[in-house]
Amino acid sequence: MNPQLADSLADSAFLRACRREPVPHTPVWYMRQAGRSLPEYRRLREGIPMLTACATPDLVVEITMQPVRRYGTDAAIFFSDIVVPLKAIGVDLDIKPGVGPVVGSPIRDHAAVAALRPLEPTDVPYVTEAVQALVKELDGTPLIGFAGGPFTLASYLIEGGPSKNHDRTKAMMYGEPDLWHELMERLTAITLGFLRVQATAGASAVQLFDSWVGAVAPADYRTYVLPHTRAIFAGLADLGVPRIHFGVGTGELLGVMGEAGADVVGVDWRVPLDEAALRVGAGKALQGNLDPAILLAPWEVVGERARDVLERGRVAEGHVFNLGHGVLPSTDPDQLARLTDLVHEISVR
Ligand code: CP3
Repeated sequence: MNPQLADSLADSAFLRACRREPVPHTPVWYMRQAGRSLPEYRRLREGIPMLTACATPDLVVEITMQPVRRYGTDAAIFFSDIVVPLKAIGVDLDIKPGVGPVVGSPIRDHAAVAALRPLEPTDVPYVTEAVQALVKELDGTPLIGFAGGPFTLASYLIEGGPSKNHDRTKAMMYGEPDLWHELMERLTAITLGFLRVQATAGASAVQLFDSWVGAVAPADYRTYVLPHTRAIFAGLADLGVPRIHFGVGTGELLGVMGEAGADVVGVDWRVPLDEAALRVGAGKALQGNLDPAILLAPWEVVGERARDVLERGRVAEGHVFNLGHGVLPSTDPDQLARLTDLVHEISVR
């Protein structure tokens, strides 16, 4: 990377907020900003399966750029999916439209766990290629790489698809703890491999989406999940990129998540940011946390609620404005465009 580009990235509002430094304005991006809420995305994806799109660098670059161009967000999120690294090491899975990831032979015994080998950069050459092209194209806007968190990946693998209560997942966690920890260790290696590929190719930050970990009680998180998320964040420390840790329904987990080693903790809409700052503890920036469903309400409501999020976010040592979870497919892109402008305008320091 040329030194000028590296400097302007390092000085970006997004990376400054992640490092808890003063910012010119509160940076904003949206989880799942690239995707089904954008008509230009739907046109581009017509007839192309999701996993094919993820393995096609030109498409990845274009789809990642679409929301940045439209909204002027302070960061881009790499277009991929949490199951891409699993597919890349040979897990038989697909992403079914309207359903989500579906696994051909769910992973429920030692032999299946033992077949989950670590991910090498050569397994995902299209990721390296797309990230390198994006860093040039983004020209100073930071790119966020990401991976699924170990509980969330384990749930898809064990259940075989999306699950409401994660019953089989928890059955393994409580009933076969040795097998559970072996699965989590293997997922940790795969996740670290996937995140390191993205950061090495030029991603400026990484986010771990442990979306479904809110299903676990705090004491169980400490026993069954924390050692593994700790290993993931520790395994990224030498890269010097901010690490963001996010899950849904994690109000009761914010304290223990604060111990996992991330630089930024993502908060869903259930806990106000001023309260979240107390739960997470000192030395972290926060990301969040407007309820994505508020974007379906009239603009006046969106504006009022966004102001409240910004106000409460001032209590945190650093604040990255975001939604409390991903953009809903039915969201009007014009609402997100207005929201981005509003956050930029009213947060000017
Ligand atoms: O803007 C972005 O964030 C794009 C990159 C991205 C996608 N998935 C693209 C995608 C990211 C960061 C993800 C993460 C992801 N994938 C998570 C964690 C974040 C979260 O929402 O909690 C999870 C749990 C998944 C698993 C998954 N993949 C689901 C639940 C779905 C939706 C299934 C459906 O169609 O309802 C997918 C598919 C998927 N991943 C789509 C996109 C744009 C939709 C597929 C399509 O457009 O055909």
